[in-house]
Amino acid sequence: MKVMILGADGYLGWALSLRLMARGHDVVGVDNFATRKSVAEVGSDSAIPILGMEDRIKAAKDIHGFKMRFHEGDVTRYEFIHKALKEEKPDTVVHFAEQRSAPYSMINAQHAAYTMQNNIVGTINLIYAMMDVNPSMHVVKMATMGEYGTPNFDIPESAFVEVEINGKKDRITTPKFAGSWYHWTKVHDTNNLLLANKIWKTTVTNIFQGPVYGTRTKEITDEKLHTRCDFDEVWGTVVNRFAVEAVLGIPLTAYGAGGQIRGYLSLEDSVDALSLLIENPAQKGEHRTVNQFVELLSINEIAEIVKKAAKKEGIDAKIDHIENPRVEADKHYYNPEVKVLPGLGFRPKLKMSDLAAQLIADLLPYKARIEKFRDRIMPHTRWTRTENAR
Ligand SMILES: NC(=O)c1ccc[n+]([C@@H]2O[C@H](COP(=O)([O-])OP(=O)(O)OC[C@H]3O[C@@H](n4cnc5c(N)ncnc54)[C@H](O)[C@@H]3O)[C@@H](O)[C@H]2O)c1
Repeated sequence: MKVMILGADGYLGWALSLRLMARGHDVVGVDNFATRKSVAEVGSDSAIPILGMEDRIKAAKDIHGFKMRFHEGDVTRYEFIHKALKEEKPDTVVHFAEQRSAPYSMINAQHAAYTMQNNIVGTINLIYAMMDVNPSMHVVKMATMGEYGTPNFDIPESAFVEVEINGKKDRITTPKFAGSWYHWTKVHDTNNLLLANKIWKTTVTNIFQGPVYGTRTKEITDEKLHTRCDFDEVWGTVVNRFAVEAVLGIPLTAYGAGGQIRGYLSLEDSVDALSLLIENPAQKGEHRTVNQFVELLSINEIAEIVKKAAKKEGIDAKIDHIENPRVEADKHYYNPEVKVLPGLGFRPKLKMSDLAAQLIADLLPYKARIEKFRDRIMPHTRWTRTENAR
């Protein structure tokens, strides 16, 4: 199958490109390197060094014999994405090419507006370009579990729910209350994709994924093939941040009381699940909704897992509770439904407790590199301010 990956230079995009090539697919990458630039803008970098795209593609060929093509460009430029689709004619387009940091979107008006423009316009362009080039293309869009917030109901794996309001029944889109401008861009994307499906019968898999952690997949066997690993207060996911804090010998910084629960999964399980969804596409004209995570964990549980893993590496990590820079409930109900992936045969291979020690071991050789960004770890970006100094 020919698969185009928008955002192929990113954390998931590079790992998925390698997995799909290993499975014999023809992969074409697209990226404008926005994440590399935006991480540098906040004075940080990937904890683990990553090669430039040309060298990455060469390394994938030398090490695994994979061949990958790449188009540099911005999906918010309609002519660019239209030309790339027309030239390549992929069967499937995976859309990862979005600004994906909640704190980045909360820095100030310019960062909020950039996130809105980049994410919503990119997705609209993809919908229109696909309709012009090949309306039956399968679009695999990465949404996020964060679109729902933390509702006091079981989150269904469905785009619509039946409701009764003032005695009248109807079918409405599943209610969402996202907690950052970034997460709202994903809600808007989901709504736009639902309209495209309603009026044009597009074929879409919309994946509500939880936070992904880890540095490895079966294909990432050499340091030349590493994918990015962000840890700073703006770009780092909590597990990577805790692991870096352990490596630097500073306390693990749990935000607030640490009762916030989310659904996590490893990078290996993420690319495995994505491959299944690509190889088992939605029906023609179907808008398929998928919830994708492996285990529900609270921040306190994650801190304990990383602390225990650090001990195995001879590090005595402490846990500190610091003021939460975000506005979010730290005690709440959380129960999303997961049935589509198990129905396709997905069986998670890894739990966070299996992987945390490996994550720390992978970071230890880069301790001196990470040291340089030590002051980028503590939270500066606060939800309660409209202008965050950088
Ligand atoms: N990593 C996670 O834990 C996670 C969880 C849920 C959802 N997601 C979503 O999955 C997708 C990929 O996440 P990631 O962690 O790999 O992020 P990433 O930032 O590492 O990758 C995104 C890639 O898209 C590129 N990009 C951004 N805007 C672009 C544009 N206008 N044109 C072309 N390229 C552009 C970036 O340069 C980057 O390489 C994102 O949409 C994110 O919101 C990620």
